[in-house]
Amino acid sequence: MAEELQEVLAPYPVERRYLLRILQGVQQKMGYISEEALEGVASHLKISPAEVYGVATFYNQFRFIPYGKHHIVACLGTACHAMGGQLILDAFERELDIKAGGITPDHGWSLDRVGCIGCCTKAPVVVINDVIHAKMSPFKVEEVLAGLGLEMRKEKEEEEAGEGESQ
Ligand code: FES
Repeated sequence: MAEELQEVLAPYPVERRYLLRILQGVQQKMGYISEEALEGVASHLKISPAEVYGVATFYNQFRFIPYGKHHIVACLGTACHAMGGQLILDAFERELDIKAGGITPDHGWSLDRVGCIGCCTKAPVVVINDVIHAKMSPFKVEEVLAGLGLEMRKEKEEEEAGEGESQ
């Protein structure tokens, strides 16, 4: 992590005006802005971590948690919202037991919401691991997750819980 951060920071002089570009570089390199990275950027630019955090949270392009093994993005742009996008997001939140912007404790799944992703004719749309799932519905959510192994995870957890009870 520290080495990756150094690679991002190295080309930039100690000038606050590079803060946004550095944050973009960190996110591109690491996928998110960790607390460690945030402090590293602050130290490099000789400004406070609070200032870096303030700028990073001002722009919604930055995320502060890593992606899960499977990353799901539910579109809630106008077309998708009108076609039931919120119900689809609700279904993912229910099935994964996390909220949008969250990640499961095993880091297997992360969930986000976005505005329009530019394919409104396929609304409502969900993007999973960079693959677009068109004409989604809440009923398809379980099926899509099962196809990616969620059911297996649930079964394994139930098995483990059963073994724990029998001991
Ligand atoms: S609103 Fe969802 S793709 Fe445009």
